[in-house]
Amino acid sequence: MPDLTVPIGAVTLKNPVIPASGTFAASYGRVFDLGRLGALVPKTLMPGYRPGHPPNRLTETGGGLLNAVGIPSDGVEAFLTKTLPAYLGWGTPVIVSISADTAAGFAELIAALEGTGIDAIELNLSCPNLEEGGRSFALDPAASAEVVAACRATALPLWAKLSPNAEDIAAVAAASVEAGADALIVANTLTGIAFRRDGRPALANVTGGLSGMPVKPVNLRCTYQVAQKLPGVPIVGCGGIATLQDALDYMAAGASAVAVGSATFSRPLAMPNLIDALATHCTARGIAARDLPRRA
Ligand SMILES: Cc1cc2nc3c(=O)[nH]c(=O)nc-3n(C[C@H](O)[C@H](O)[C@H](O)COP(=O)(O)O)c2cc1C
Repeated sequence: MPDLTVPIGAVTLKNPVIPASGTFAASYGRVFDLGRLGALVPKTLMPGYRPGHPPNRLTETGGGLLNAVGIPSDGVEAFLTKTLPAYLGWGTPVIVSISADTAAGFAELIAALEGTGIDAIELNLSCPNLEEGGRSFALDPAASAEVVAACRATALPLWAKLSPNAEDIAAVAAASVEAGADALIVANTLTGIAFRRDGRPALANVTGGLSGMPVKPVNLRCTYQVAQKLPGVPIVGCGGIATLQDALDYMAAGASAVAVGSATFSRPLAMPNLIDALATHCTARGIAARDLPRRA
């Protein structure tokens, strides 16, 4: 068995394959051994109770998925007592994704997560910034940096999850790292719309986030641009990853690890299969996963 561990800053992943937040639940433990994954990532936690958007919240479009789930959340108490315990104890790092409408809201969530046994925090910067008129934090270098800076008091590693909707994602990445982010997830979903045959919007929220195969070239470009701008900053690639070739493409663009989202919906074993394929690939080449070629 080759050495599949990869460092993402201070966190050592068991292998380069982790779940994309919001597309995974601890109940997958009934399908495969969660201890096989590089890390575990629950759905984004928001400070209070939120019902999320009304249905319809998910539709298939052009080979991908369009979702406007709206981050339903039971709030911090329920997360700490019910959700988190199911993720701890698998012998694999736990990365908790958080979001809030204000930078101070992010910092309050982190305070509640200190000392709970988690390994890192993922800052989902895609939430609308209430103090700036509802524009997503991740669209703006200064707004993203404000969130990271507000959270930096923690000793926990901070990963910033960026958006492919940003005009200049490398600038957002640089501002986030300057403010103290240890690693970057590149990236979240691309905004889109789908219509039904009767001409009405397919999603109740009208717009949604496009994921799956169609976003791969976009998020791959984002990964490349961020890696070019910030050599040495660990990147987790995300967007349309399902196969070994997808993972290798993201590594060629500069990622050290990959997050798998939509593929798990159609193939629940997509992640363990990808880990097996990476292991075979590394064995055949006599290399460790951390030595997989990164050409960016
Ligand atoms: C149904 C659904 C729910 C999602 N919820 C979240 C979420 O709560 N937090 C987050 O950061 N990303 C969320 N995402 C985005 C994914 O984590 C991922 O960034 C995106 O889907 C691209 O990866 P993929 O093409 O492999 O799905 C969600 C995606 C989907 C499809």
